[in-house]
Amino acid sequence: MSRDLLLIGIGELATNSPRAPDLVGVVHDAAVAIRDGRVAWAGPAADLPAEFRGPDPFDVQGRAVVPGFVDAHTHLVFAGDRADEFARRLRGEGYEQILAAGGGIHSTVAATRAASFDELVASGSARAIRLLRQGTTTVEIKSGYGLDPETEVRMLEAARAVGERTPIDVVPTYLGAHVVPRGTGREEYLGLAAGEMLAACAPLARYCDVFCDRGAFTVEEARRVLSAGRERGLRPRIHAEQLAHTGGALLAAELEAASADHLDHATAEDAAALRQAGVVAVLLPAASFSMRLPPAPGRMLWDAGVTVALATDCNPGTSYVESMPFVIALACLEMGLTPEEALWAATRGGALALDEADKGWVGEGAVADLAVLEAPSYRHLPYRPGGDLVWAVVKDGAVVAG
Ligand code: NIG
Ligand code: FE
Repeated sequence: MSRDLLLIGIGELATNSPRAPDLVGVVHDAAVAIRDGRVAWAGPAADLPAEFRGPDPFDVQGRAVVPGFVDAHTHLVFAGDRADEFARRLRGEGYEQILAAGGGIHSTVAATRAASFDELVASGSARAIRLLRQGTTTVEIKSGYGLDPETEVRMLEAARAVGERTPIDVVPTYLGAHVVPRGTGREEYLGLAAGEMLAACAPLARYCDVFCDRGAFTVEEARRVLSAGRERGLRPRIHAEQLAHTGGALLAAELEAASADHLDHATAEDAAALRQAGVVAVLLPAASFSMRLPPAPGRMLWDAGVTVALATDCNPGTSYVESMPFVIALACLEMGLTPEEALWAATRGGALALDEADKGWVGEGAVADLAVLEAPSYRHLPYRPGGDLVWAVVKDGAVVAG
């Protein structure tokens, strides 16, 4: 697969260059030269150095090009689905009520435990390909539907296999502390999640996450698991303030976590702490939307100076959403971000949330991951919600979709 490519005919290039006067760093009538999977040059086509000109350029005919989306929060590997639960919730049953009665996450745990490695890889890869076709080039994938050492390991191995068998880059996260599984004592399970199961999973993961919320784990329990994770080399990230305000955001700041995610109930105090500690706020408006709940205070967090990322939270319960363009639309229409802010958060913000400094921007040295839009401007992403707006995808300098 060629990792050298010259894109020409770019009507509008969003670079996210930190040196640009505007957030998105727009260049019109642009070209991008790629060598060995990295951007070697990006700028106005008229200035393209002779050394990068070639006989067979990829002419995108006036379309807009943006950095590939970095989806920094998903539960992409799972078995079964919860369409029945979804329909029950539309008729008025509560998510937490269903979970407490042994459904919800527990039903996905049962299906995932029963699934083979090959089944998890096949369904996870099919989802990853659908993400890729909508412009996502890097995806974080959590465990958390195994809740026993054998299945948590199988989920993380499946996540890695998805990254090997599809063009998409996968960043794996250990989420042993998702909920306490049915039939296990709380203290016993915490010991496992912070002990033997963590030890088995740590070599397969980059991050350790905890669902710190009402009905899941307390701040003290999350601190215990995340501290143990850190001792094994896993940086913390936290599901925080989704269902209720329980203190997960301040814990993320205390631990200098990579991210605090969801934040639907975050306060101004939380925002100040996250900004101060350099924790990225990963916002998941498709989860709030799918649960018919108000979104996170994205406008407030952005204005408070917090680094904001957007992600799908793709999972079978609260957000079976595979499209970052749709998430961008929700971020603008439901949370009040501007198109520029939402695009940046879905690309550079996601990359920063995953410690992927070379992704989420287009400039010399960046990983050559790009989405070519079937539109003249990135502004069409929020303007046309649900539209089929990704025309081609470039991953590491190769055209992989479109
Ligand atoms: O991010 N909040 C916890 N975890 C998932 C939902 C998991 C599920 O319902 O299966 C989330 O929304
Ligand atoms: Fe989640």
